[in-house]
This record gives sequence, structure tokens and C-alpha cells, in this order.
Amino acid sequence: MRLDQFIATTSALSRKDAKRAISSGRVRLDGHPCRAAATHINSSATVTLDNAPLALEGERYLMLHKPAGVVSATTDSDHPTALDLLPASIKRGLHIAGRLDADTTGLLLLTTDGQWSHRITSPRVQCPKTYRVTLSEMVPDLALQQLEQGIALRNDTRPTKPAMTRRISDCEIELTISEGRYHQVKRMMAAVGNHVTALHRLSIGVITLDTKLPPGAFRELTRAEVDSVS
Ligand code: URA
Repeated sequence: MRLDQFIATTSALSRKDAKRAISSGRVRLDGHPCRAAATHINSSATVTLDNAPLALEGERYLMLHKPAGVVSATTDSDHPTALDLLPASIKRGLHIAGRLDADTTGLLLLTTDGQWSHRITSPRVQCPKTYRVTLSEMVPDLALQQLEQGIALRNDTRPTKPAMTRRISDCEIELTISEGRYHQVKRMMAAVGNHVTALHRLSIGVITLDTKLPPGAFRELTRAEVDSVS
């Protein structure tokens, strides 16, 4: 990136004012005055304007405890969106990595980093997502076996990939899937003759919804959580 572009991106100055600041000697590069606006800035350079250091804003990564009734979209004219739950200063440039239905609660990841979110949503990567599923009917062991083997869904040509299941109670299970088909969990449960009454996403890969976050609350991901998606 050119020096004038770097100044305009990281300070309140316009590109024109950045050029003026550079030519008047207000900008230092690695401690030395630099008066050439076209100078290339590498990622390890230290740039100051009037002796104040400037830095490029990095990518941002958040987890949100999505409440029911909120849509996984950046804008919606009829319903509150996940982005509406965030302060304006934070939501700039964020998109959702792996949507949830409006009535599904739980872990929603948001980021500015398109390559990172692609690794979560791409069918090729097969990032596992775990849901707590509450059902209207008791789930027989046979249904769990069918889900684990892979099951034909209405209107889909291929069966689902093998899932992992864990029984919590007669009408509640944990289900881990590594695909992201449309309404996948609800359709899988319909395929074994049941009906989902509540759906809650617990984790994506090793990123688990923070139990300290009440519905509607969010926090930044830790470095380890971000790096876990590779
Ligand atoms: N599967 C569904 O059916 N709904 C969701 O929100 C997520 C997975």
C-alpha cells in the first residue's frame, strides 16, 4: 500500500490532506521523515503522523448469542437482524458465517474476513456444527442410527453425510452435522418422522457458545478461536 493511501485509511485525513501532511514532513516512516507519498508501506513498517502511531485495523471476529425472532441477515425491512444487535461502531463490514433460521437460537459467528467465513461454510471443508434439538416426539434409537448413517431428505438427490448424535432425554438430542443444507436439521428430523420444537446451535468446529453470553450478547473471538478455523 502507498504511504498516502495508508495515512488516508488509518487517520481522519482525506487522500489529498494525507499527501499534504506527507510533503510538509508531518509523517515519519520507521522513525525518519518521509516526504514521498508513493512510498510502499510493508506490514512491519511503523508510521506516525504528528508523532502519533497509525495502524491498519485488522479483521474482526465475533460470536453472538442469537435470540429467537432475529434473522441472520445484514438488512431486513420486516424483522430485526443479527447486525441490529451490535453497536454501529462494531458492525461496519461484518457478515454472518453460517446462517440460522429466525426461530433458531445460539451461536452465530460474524466476521469481516471472507476467507475465514468461507472455511466455515464451504461444503468442501466440512466444518462440524453441533445443535441441541428439542423434538415433539420421543426419538427412538433407530432414528439416531439412521441419522448417524446418513438419510435421504425430501427433494435432495444425495443422502446427508453421516451425523453424530447424543441423547440428552427422550425428546432432546445433540446432533453434529458437517453440511449446511437448507433447514437441514429440521428436514433430517422430519425424515425420521419427528418435528423440531426448538433448535439451538452450541458450537461450530471447536468454537463453543460462551455460557456467559445471555441471548442478544456478543464478544470478540479469542486468537485461539480464530486460529482454530483453518
Ligand atoms: N438446521 C435448521 O434446520 N435450521 C437452522 O437454523 C440450522 C440448521
